[in-house]
Amino acid sequence: MYRAVVVKGLRPYSTKASVARQAVDRIIRVDHAGELGADRIYAGQMAVLGRTSVGPVIQHMWDEEKEHLAKFEELVPKYRVRPTVLLPIWNVAGYALGAGTALLGKEAAMACTVAVESVITDHYNSQLRELISLGEEDNKELIDVIQKFRDQEMEHHDTGLAHDAEQAPAYAALSGVIKTGCKAAVWLSERI
Ligand SMILES: [Fe+2]
Ligand SMILES: [Fe+2]
Repeated sequence: MYRAVVVKGLRPYSTKASVARQAVDRIIRVDHAGELGADRIYAGQMAVLGRTSVGPVIQHMWDEEKEHLAKFEELVPKYRVRPTVLLPIWNVAGYALGAGTALLGKEAAMACTVAVESVITDHYNSQLRELISLGEEDNKELIDVIQKFRDQEMEHHDTGLAHDAEQAPAYAALSGVIKTGCKAAVWLSERI
């Protein structure tokens, strides 16, 4: 239930339009950050594993991440969203995560993919529910983009499982740490 509160001399706040606007801002900001991080993770994985048997598999996922990032690079100015100030951190952290897990072996790289993509898929699904609740017609462009990317992230997740992610050393611990890190990165990127 949205109610405009009008105080003389001040603009109304908490209108449905401003709630939707804030949600769209937050969604584009965090997704842009996430796709930058994903691009850097796969770049780091490719630097280590590019010439191995899983090189082409990682390259294919990386190519899709490049498209995701390019799309959000386009949406940030289009919707006049301020990007998160944390981009330089996600740039370095993403690469370090990708290269670091790849150095542990291809299974650990795939475990990283499964963990990251599962958090992102859940996150995209909750954004879709939110955007639909705010108005399917008003948010059609963003809903279509997120639906398409959500499906591709799900495929990346399944690709990781198909390439022995669960055979990684200390799989459960590795997966838990990466998921927690991703959720923290999401939380921060939505806010600053
Ligand atoms: Fe992506
Ligand atoms: Fe992905």
